Amino acid sequence: MNWDDTTDADAPAERLVGASADGEDQAVEAALRPKDLGEFIGQEKVREQLDLVLRAARARGATADHVLLSGAPGLGKTTLSMIIAAEMEAPIRITSGPAIQHAGDLAAILSSLQEGEVLFLDEIHRMSRPAEEMLYMAMEDFRVDVIVGKGPGATAIPLELPPFTLVGATTRAGLLPPPLRDRFGFTAHMEFYGPAELERVIHRSAGLLDVEIDTAGAAEIAGRSRGTPRIANRLLRRVRDYAQVKADGLVTQEIAAAALAVYEVDARGLDRLDRGVLEALLKLFGGGPVGLSTLAVAVGEERETVEEVAEPFLVREGLLARTPRGRVATPAAWAHLGLTPPRSQGSGNGQQDLFGA
Ligand SMILES: Nc1ncnc2c1ncn2[C@@H]1O[C@H](COP(=O)(O)OP(=O)(O)OP(=O)(O)O)[C@@H](O)[C@H]1O
Ligand SMILES: [Mg+2]
Repeated sequence: MNWDDTTDADAPAERLVGASADGEDQAVEAALRPKDLGEFIGQEKVREQLDLVLRAARARGATADHVLLSGAPGLGKTTLSMIIAAEMEAPIRITSGPAIQHAGDLAAILSSLQEGEVLFLDEIHRMSRPAEEMLYMAMEDFRVDVIVGKGPGATAIPLELPPFTLVGATTRAGLLPPPLRDRFGFTAHMEFYGPAELERVIHRSAGLLDVEIDTAGAAEIAGRSRGTPRIANRLLRRVRDYAQVKADGLVTQEIAAAALAVYEVDARGLDRLDRGVLEALLKLFGGGPVGLSTLAVAVGEERETVEEVAEPFLVREGLLARTPRGRVATPAAWAHLGLTPPRSQGSGNGQQDLFGA
């Protein structure tokens, strides 16, 4: 596999443990998506809150409040948006921030909505400024001003909109301007999934894909899925292939572990790139601190690949820390790679200040 063209955090879709959807994911995801809140696994708080919001709206015979879904890729934002429409028995229109270049594009969509329709705006943080401003008014007053003509002769024609529910999704809630964020009646923060929840996701998907899997097999895949249902589903498909070719099709713990060893996804969900970064940090730099550029050269990758593709998960897992003096491995990193940290030699090794080692 070649990492050289994966310098942007969104790009490495061909990574087996990448969180963004690749072509194959897109093809199977529709079949694997839970259809209602009851089928949606985990995210207990979000489910409970959303259930109240939707029930109350249904009881009032009203359109549900606008909902903002924020969370990392592959945690179920698109899935939840479709569930919201299904629960409200409303049609859904799907578009995304980058698809809306001009305010006019948004006006065209808004003015063609039916009463009660759900408008799903994916990657809402990537909408253009003028479209965003139009959206403020549409969300609050169900009205847009359509500009007719150009220059001094241009006039704004107010247009009433039917009540609708905007469901916005973003992986970067921090990038949303506060006036936009404030116009959502309900914001759901999606968390990474725990191992038990991922196991349930895997059992459910295995059922839908006709894959035979035992409890330990599902647990093995769950542990390597980085808290992300999309990754769990993808690993399940690769393990299924292996089980078909190398065994009798039943996914056991041994089969899952052997299959994922072939794909170089380790017990904690690190892949070759992640391990390369950690190994360089430990073996070449004694655990750091070492500057990002030096580390990147040592693993033969672009700075951005190391920083945006490998590091976020290593940091989240508590294997690597970013400090003002550079990247530092944690004691857990040494343990994970089965290496013994050097006795603190004083010079150059900043670990004792950071971890009291
Ligand atoms: N809670 C869940 N229960 C079961 N399956 C889930 C759950 N959440 C997500 N999935 C599965 O994971 C896949 C990815 O989910 P989804 O497309 O909704 O993620 P997303 O948050 O929209 O990702 P992105 O940020 O890339 O758009 C779906 O196919 C779905 O089957
Ligand atoms: Mg999505």
